[in-house]
Amino acid sequence: MTHDYVLFDPLFDGESDAEAMVRLCERFGRYGMYSQENADTEIGRGLTQRHDAAQNYFRSGGRHGRHDPVDVLAARTNYFREEYAYGTEPLIDGIEPFLFHDGFVDAARKIHRRPLIEPAIVFANLMVPGQELALHTDVPEFRGANRKTTPQWLLVAMRHSKLFEDWRMPIATGVAWFHDCKGGEFAFYPDGPGGDAVAHEVAFNTAILVDTDSVFHGVDPVDLPTGELPPLKPGMHLVYDGDEQWSARNGDDVVARYRWDELRFSVSWKAYCFADESERDAWRSHADDLELEWILDRLVADLRERGRVDGDPPRDRDLALTIIDEYIRFPASQ
Ligand SMILES: [Fe+2]
Repeated sequence: MTHDYVLFDPLFDGESDAEAMVRLCERFGRYGMYSQENADTEIGRGLTQRHDAAQNYFRSGGRHGRHDPVDVLAARTNYFREEYAYGTEPLIDGIEPFLFHDGFVDAARKIHRRPLIEPAIVFANLMVPGQELALHTDVPEFRGANRKTTPQWLLVAMRHSKLFEDWRMPIATGVAWFHDCKGGEFAFYPDGPGGDAVAHEVAFNTAILVDTDSVFHGVDPVDLPTGELPPLKPGMHLVYDGDEQWSARNGDDVVARYRWDELRFSVSWKAYCFADESERDAWRSHADDLELEWILDRLVADLRERGRVDGDPPRDRDLALTIIDEYIRFPASQ
């Protein structure tokens, strides 16, 4: 299946609007390492939130098949991320032209063929030389099942199973860049996991909008000409020190220093795409919510039909691994 996507070149008509995004990134100043909230549920206890993507990454060594020790692979994907807006609320002044970008709204309508677009979040991603982002599809959302109630790997499997599409909230994701970057291509599979990857180069004032909940994507390694990736761990921060300089810090200790032009900076925009107001109202009022037990019963019934389980298996880690294995099929040729 082929997925539509929309490219923007340029994203903003005036270069000054794009340059203002770089200044905004500096003004925000301090970026934590992306850590994932937990939904505490019995099924799959002990698995990481993105067990699906992590497992595939460790097995494959990423798109370029590099089989390094686990701590090196982990440091490579521990990138920095902060929110610039939540819902339609700016969390930093100056994000409004991006949050309400008409081009993104029009493109979101186009790819999902749904007229009612409501911004959900804007966040920044910063990666240092040597880092990459493992192939994955984003965490989708369903009425009654989101990352607050349901493990992320399960939400992802629900999307790929196609058993819960009546409850899915289609989301459009725009990803924008505000500098030219060496390496760090946005790699994605618009023709599905069986198709070829497109490695899209990152350039100043450009963007792409795509259904990242359905299309596998990742980020190729950011150019690391010399030296090694420092041991980046959760809890560290990336801090703007002024004068085009950044540092990775563990508390007050500087772990590494970077020039602006060595980093990879992107800003993501996500929006819900509703068919009409009644669908939006059902989402807001929780009038038609899924429940975890029913989700698992539905998946088990389907797994039984596919010959993957017998009877009524316990809702445990083994079942979680079977669900991931059966429904989330990663691109074969990476
Ligand atoms: Fe993603």
